[in-house]
Amino acid sequence: MQPNLGQSLRGVSFEFLAEKFGTPLYIYDADTIKAQIQSLRSAFREIHIKYAAKALTNISILRFMKNQGIGVDVVSIEEAQIARRAGFLPADIMFTPNCVSFNEIIEGVDMGLQINLDNLPILEKFGAHYGNRYPCGIRLNPDILAGGNIKISTGHSHSKFGISIHSVEAIKGIVEKYDIRIQGLHIHTGSELTDLDVFMKMADILFGLAHDFKYLRFLDFGGGLKVPYKPGDSQTSVQELGKRLTETFGAFNQQTGKQLELWMEPGKFLVSDAGYLLVRTNVVKETPKVTFVGVDSGLNQLIRPMMYDAYHMITNVSNPAGSKKIYTVVGNVCETDTFGADREMNEVREGDLLVIQNAGAYGYSMASNYNSRLRPAEVMIVDGEARLIRHRDTMDQLLAGQVDIFS
Ligand code: LLP
Repeated sequence: MQPNLGQSLRGVSFEFLAEKFGTPLYIYDADTIKAQIQSLRSAFREIHIKYAAKALTNISILRFMKNQGIGVDVVSIEEAQIARRAGFLPADIMFTPNCVSFNEIIEGVDMGLQINLDNLPILEKFGAHYGNRYPCGIRLNPDILAGGNIKISTGHSHSKFGISIHSVEAIKGIVEKYDIRIQGLHIHTGSELTDLDVFMKMADILFGLAHDFKYLRFLDFGGGLKVPYKPGDSQTSVQELGKRLTETFGAFNQQTGKQLELWMEPGKFLVSDAGYLLVRTNVVKETPKVTFVGVDSGLNQLIRPMMYDAYHMITNVSNPAGSKKIYTVVGNVCETDTFGADREMNEVREGDLLVIQNAGAYGYSMASNYNSRLRPAEVMIVDGEARLIRHRDTMDQLLAGQVDIFS
């Protein structure tokens, strides 16, 4: 989030971007992604970063991540296939699916991915099928409630994710029965974790279990690092987290004589702030109660405000000298799709360009064709140059696959 967003990004003006690529438009800043990776690396002495691809899956973004020397975390075979096409080697792809069929696990093994299992029945099937011939990891549910919103909290006892830490005996029983090579233990407690003690509790759990698995290579602390969405907003102190985790991890390895690796798989932290959704004002609509700014996008293209009550800063970049007024910014979808309510912005006129910030993570990747709208193009700013990384959807694409049986 940039509190004082200007009229351009890395020297490329929003007006130019809108003219050249049209609106609505997703824009990603490569330098911000690079800086986020760097800040993680400098906070932790040694960290293996696996980018959570679900946050933003564009192939150019994935290849960019690969070129920065990090790995990737995927949740479906399709994401794994995109990652392969983006140049990731199978060994650098962690596959952490949830409630999938065993066939999908077999596909993952056939592709040579690192497999992370998250329920007991599938662990049993894995053991019966592969014995100790193929290694895997285990995703644990730590029984901790944490995260920015209940919809994005995954580590509590009523969540569908992971194998409960209260089922450790059952896990050990299956692992011993088949001599499964458990090479990683993994916990992802939720998205937007700001309380560092949550990570320390995860460390305690993982360290406590590490003795029980003789093939262990790494402990994975998941993603969930929070970035600020507005001035004064909470965030995960990555510097402090890096310091604390590195210290306890180092002490653990030293005391036990183990050489375990510390893994993390952030999504939002790497791409949220790098992304912008550029929209154009269709109408300024005064009602007796509210002044609406209706823009050419909607919840079909950025669902976070409606789905998680997420706050995204919105700036009128066309009228920097305009007087301040209060607006509610809405989309063009045929149901309530408020991007931001009661926002103070420089006077908005028809045709003005607005920029919605922190749109990099779970923006395009959660976009749909609801209302039969075409999804936006995506552009990446690299070395001061705007490069198209996805064309806007076309009408042909929208109809592709549909069968008009009564024509
Ligand atoms: N690892 C696992 C196993 C995950 O399930 C997730 C996210 C991540 C890593 C990355 O979490 P992050 O660092 O991005 O917080 N659509 C929601 C967020 C859903 C997160 C799902 N899992 C949103 O827009 O807030």
